Amino acid sequence: MDNKALVAQAIAVAVPELDLATITAKLETPKSADLGDAAFPTFTLAKVLRKAPQQIATDILAKIDQSAFEKVVAVGPYLNFFFDKNATTNTVLRDVLAQGAAYGQNNDGAGANITIDMSSPNIAKPMSFGHLRSTVIGNAFANLVKKNGYNPIKINHLGDWGTQFGLMIAAYKKWGNKPIEEYSVDELVKLYVEINKAAKTDEAVADAGRNWFKKLEDGDAEAVSLWQTIRDASLSEFQEVYERLHITFDSMNGEAFFNDKMIPVVAEIKDKNLLTDSQGAEIVDLPTLLPDENLPISMILKSNGSTAYITRDLAAAEFRQREYDFVKSLYVVGAEQTEHFRQLKAILKLMGHDWSDDIEHISYGLITINGEKMSTRKGNVVTLVEVLNMAHEAALKQISEKNPDLPNKDLVAEQVGAGAVVFNDLMNERKNFIDFTPADAVKFEGDTGPYVQYTIARANSILRKAGVEVNVNDLQLDDAATWDTITLLKNFPTVVRDAWSKRDTSMTAKFALRLARAFNKYYANSKILVDDEQRNSRLALVSAVIIVLTEALNMLGVEAPSEM
Ligand code: ARG
Repeated sequence: MDNKALVAQAIAVAVPELDLATITAKLETPKSADLGDAAFPTFTLAKVLRKAPQQIATDILAKIDQSAFEKVVAVGPYLNFFFDKNATTNTVLRDVLAQGAAYGQNNDGAGANITIDMSSPNIAKPMSFGHLRSTVIGNAFANLVKKNGYNPIKINHLGDWGTQFGLMIAAYKKWGNKPIEEYSVDELVKLYVEINKAAKTDEAVADAGRNWFKKLEDGDAEAVSLWQTIRDASLSEFQEVYERLHITFDSMNGEAFFNDKMIPVVAEIKDKNLLTDSQGAEIVDLPTLLPDENLPISMILKSNGSTAYITRDLAAAEFRQREYDFVKSLYVVGAEQTEHFRQLKAILKLMGHDWSDDIEHISYGLITINGEKMSTRKGNVVTLVEVLNMAHEAALKQISEKNPDLPNKDLVAEQVGAGAVVFNDLMNERKNFIDFTPADAVKFEGDTGPYVQYTIARANSILRKAGVEVNVNDLQLDDAATWDTITLLKNFPTVVRDAWSKRDTSMTAKFALRLARAFNKYYANSKILVDDEQRNSRLALVSAVIIVLTEALNMLGVEAPSEM
């Protein structure tokens, strides 16, 4: 039984009028440690028990079995519980060492599916920094829900369909001077930029684009084959980023996948009397249907019969619901699409799909690089691969200074560089704007991923020096200096739950930083390897810190090198 349960149990025995769940819900963690480790407020019981809160606290205290605690005291309307630190310490260490990476795992989700729409870059364009955030945040959510007992399904809803592909094909037909296979993604992007400029001023070009997209939707062989080649080229470029971040997907069904699944959805919307004709286009008139929601109309079919982004999202949502029967469906997409997802949910709801309540837009803010916004127009564009390379270089430089003899420096630099990029993103609340400055983010001190990685590496070197296996059956740690570290280790399972319930993956990152700091402080002031009866217990603490820090980093998608 964990300490909180122990407290609730003791109160339940003393106050039979209250059930365990009610008591547990009321328990608080005092602001400072001198007030104890758990507090039970009695104000709300005053009515039920018809006594003053102070009186209730003293009455309960008299009836409580205190043997499981260091002490229990009544302070005004509160009962404050002080845990038995030695027992707690050794229980926590035993739990962590026995469970290893599974420590903190719960089964709240009971294996239910959660779909995570993440990354989802657009073909024939370079992957943007917004997509990087989606990739990294989505991956952290996948790991987080898994740790909470759900089954995550990572879906890359590739932007591989739409009028822009019509334009792309039109550009190739207009200017192409070699087989499409011979175009690099860079060249394709140039074509794309050129044709977009042309389409703005020349209606004929815009028309050609729309016509080619219509052909693509109708399955025209030439259009489909050109599209396929462009898609393959882009995908293999995205793959490099995914590989360097160790990110995999369960589904790569992008927008194109839904091309042949659109007719039934549109028919369904029509059957439910939600479709209105508007100058040849078919729309859902949200302002009229839901006057209080303040949403714009939603174009479902363009006047030439082509579908729209939202049409494909409606089809995708229904498909995911049928295919995965999700309990939650997350869309990790930038804040600029908030309205789109409100429209999506509203239309699904109007269609009578109650499961639309389970759709959540996990939005996030902008990212700048070295303090600058990336803009194609201003010419300060860096690709994601270039950013990963910058981080790698900065990490390598630092490793070479600190640890010149380290074997496989290059591999470690890659782990540190990629880790810095990912951690820098995830340690901030996702709605915030963030900046990535490679030289700062790779630092081994301060609030960085490499600081946590470095803590793990140092802890590993202590174990290597000790040269013995930790004996889990001989734990007798009794050292006030370890209490902060122990409290954090003990709290990890709660962080796992809270991070999910608050939809905040930064809680895991902040936890890792706190634990790393607590451990480093302990390590700076204590001798771990001295030969006394607590040596084994101290090494157990070191092992436990390695296990939990490594798991926290892995949950964020960051690797932990054992030496750096
Ligand atoms: N490809 C889109 C973009 O880059 C993001 C797609 C997000 N997912 C979705 N189901 N709409 O803007």
